[in-house]
Amino acid sequence: MEADGPPFHATPNIGGKMTRQRFSAFLPALFLLAALCCSAAFAAEAPRKGILIAAFGTSVAPAQVSYAAIDKEVKKTFPDHEILWAWTARTLLHKRPRNDQVLSVQEAMARFAAMGVKEVVVFSLHVIPGREYEDLATTVRAFAGLPKGLEKVSLSPPLLYDTESLDRTAGLLLKNIPPARKADEAVLFIGHGTHHPAGVYYPALQYYLSQRDGNAFVGTVEGDLDVVAVTAALRARGIKKVWLAPMMMVAGDHAVNDLFGDEPDSWARRLNAVSIRVEPISKGLGEFPNIVEQRISDLRGAMEHDTPK
Ligand code: CO
Repeated sequence: MEADGPPFHATPNIGGKMTRQRFSAFLPALFLLAALCCSAAFAAEAPRKGILIAAFGTSVAPAQVSYAAIDKEVKKTFPDHEILWAWTARTLLHKRPRNDQVLSVQEAMARFAAMGVKEVVVFSLHVIPGREYEDLATTVRAFAGLPKGLEKVSLSPPLLYDTESLDRTAGLLLKNIPPARKADEAVLFIGHGTHHPAGVYYPALQYYLSQRDGNAFVGTVEGDLDVVAVTAALRARGIKKVWLAPMMMVAGDHAVNDLFGDEPDSWARRLNAVSIRVEPISKGLGEFPNIVEQRISDLRGAMEHDTPK
């Protein structure tokens, strides 16, 4: 404060014409009042930060152990954040648990705004930046900067999004293979697959896996790296046994039926049919602590961004 500045034009209505001395005497009371107001406001205030965990969703109840593990880790890491869950697969939202704990992305963002949350980071559990991720980004972007709404919205990347993440993930996946696997036995990671251009992430991951392990393979339930293509590659290498693992956040319907199912067209049955033995690793990616740790680190990175990618 300037010693010879103008006397308190900013507070013209307090006690009419106030001298500097009288105002000084009044200051402690003002501070007390301000402190009381602030503490009351803080006590009643909603959390200012929220995390929306956005997953594809699953219709298989036991597969949710994967989501539960992620939920636990997020809550432990960010105890001061309000946390909500959304599933991005519209069809699966109809099969969500009936406990109001799983919302659509729109519902969750609106709920955050209603709670008075100002900053939301959306934690994508998607594996590639495909259709689901793109739709998520579009929805999230629409909620950024709405008047009287959320002030800051950011979105974390999917598991695979650049060359570094591909290389890193290849290493993490291989670490999760049980030590009983012998070098001449193959490991086969099956992703969901897509006809979206982001499907290139699967053959890209194959490249980084091959750099580390000549008997590591990527397949997809949908798309080009199908059971026919992968089986041919396995046979070309004379593989007799495969460790088969889903490369999806949860070991849901695709794992239970498409990979390990009893139908003759499941991956396990198709491999058995050409005399390749299958050792199932029926866990979702969320059940592996090193993957969850990586996802949390991506989430932390997103908190530093203002707008969705
Ligand atoms: Co699917």
